[in-house]
Amino acid sequence: TDDQGRKVFDLTFTAGEIEFIEGQRTETWGLNGPYLSPTLRATRGDEVLINVDNDVEEDTSLHWHGMHLPAAMDGGPHQMIEPGDTWSPTWTINQPAATLWFHPHPHGVTAEHVYRGAAGMFILDDPDLEDLELPDTYGVDDIPLIIQDKKFNNDGSLNFDKSIFGNVGILGDEILVNGTHGPSFEATSSLVRFRVLNASNARLYNLGFNDNRSYTLIGTDTGLLEEPIYLNRLLLSPGERAEIVVEIEPEDDLILRSFEPNINGLNFWEQRFNGGNDTFDILTIRGNEQLVDSEPLPSKLVDIDWPEETNAVHTRKFELSGTGWINNEPMDMNRIDFAATKDTTEIWEISHEGGGVYHNFHTHLIHFAILDIDGKDPPEHLRGWKDTVFIPPTSSVRIIARFEDYVDPEFPYMYHCHILMHEDRGMMGQFVVV
Ligand code: C2O
Ligand code: CU
Ligand code: CU
Repeated sequence: TDDQGRKVFDLTFTAGEIEFIEGQRTETWGLNGPYLSPTLRATRGDEVLINVDNDVEEDTSLHWHGMHLPAAMDGGPHQMIEPGDTWSPTWTINQPAATLWFHPHPHGVTAEHVYRGAAGMFILDDPDLEDLELPDTYGVDDIPLIIQDKKFNNDGSLNFDKSIFGNVGILGDEILVNGTHGPSFEATSSLVRFRVLNASNARLYNLGFNDNRSYTLIGTDTGLLEEPIYLNRLLLSPGERAEIVVEIEPEDDLILRSFEPNINGLNFWEQRFNGGNDTFDILTIRGNEQLVDSEPLPSKLVDIDWPEETNAVHTRKFELSGTGWINNEPMDMNRIDFAATKDTTEIWEISHEGGGVYHNFHTHLIHFAILDIDGKDPPEHLRGWKDTVFIPPTSSVRIIARFEDYVDPEFPYMYHCHILMHEDRGMMGQFVVV
């Protein structure tokens, strides 16, 4: 804490080397270390100040994905940090408890910078939820899982080649969790909460357990659900998060796995070259002989004040096409695509006419609710606050959000596909709030 009562964090972009696989050295980037970053944590109401130093040899930026904050603090492509410089955004945390993250966002090279490993988790707490009995001991029964796929060359260096016949960019054949290859976790309690983040460039994960046991979803991208729901598969596209709680038995021998995503709307070859048939073990979980009995999960989590469709003053259309356009044009750093008005509600209709590839859609600043997918109510597991949503081939998704504050006619916020090669190719646009 500084003398103005702000919670201060110092992060430094660092180039380094890691031995992910025995005997192989891999050159990487991280924050305050060679790969990934320390987890940041703050509480609703905190004023934070983050000093971001650039100690690598390229211009980059650091974006707070999922954070509700002024555009000038957002860390998008308009807040570049030159080598040797420090950028010090400050804002007040004003949003529900959630699992957010941060990563570089320089225009045109986000995929490369994220792939090198400069990213981390940002956990937000809410003092109003202190009485909610959820597993919350970090590292014991509240575990971050940052899932990434990587491809390594024979000498251990990162392979940046795009999937040859696919059209989503880099798809790796090795999985890292929190920067560890072949990870395992010793559970010491009967319930374990995992904060799962898909921090991959392009890959989809369809998460479940090897014995098909069901687990509980308690939170989506930017907040807890109203009530826990039970499932045994969950699809996470790049940038999405899920908070899940798993019941562990003594001496359990469990594997968290990504099963074939089998993407609707892709043909045999498109499926194959875009990871649709891939299966990966993500994490081995072993239960101790004796487990601490966790409090049972509450049946009610939070109240959500949903935006009302009848209040919407605007319906905007975003048509994703090819691998780099929205509404028939690529991103232009000097073009503001639209202005939203403070104190209004908008509906955004994101559609993807073409087939052959999948997309998702992420927007900065706002948290949205999903109204419908191809005209149908969203499945239960998507009825929570979101900032990123999967857009299957030939589908159309409607979302709704309120614009409540942070008027700034000058600095824009981005919206884009979070398949990073698509974003870099221009499947991105910018809006301001007036
Ligand atoms: Cu996670 Cu605009 O990004
Ligand atoms: Cu973002
Ligand atoms: Cu895309």
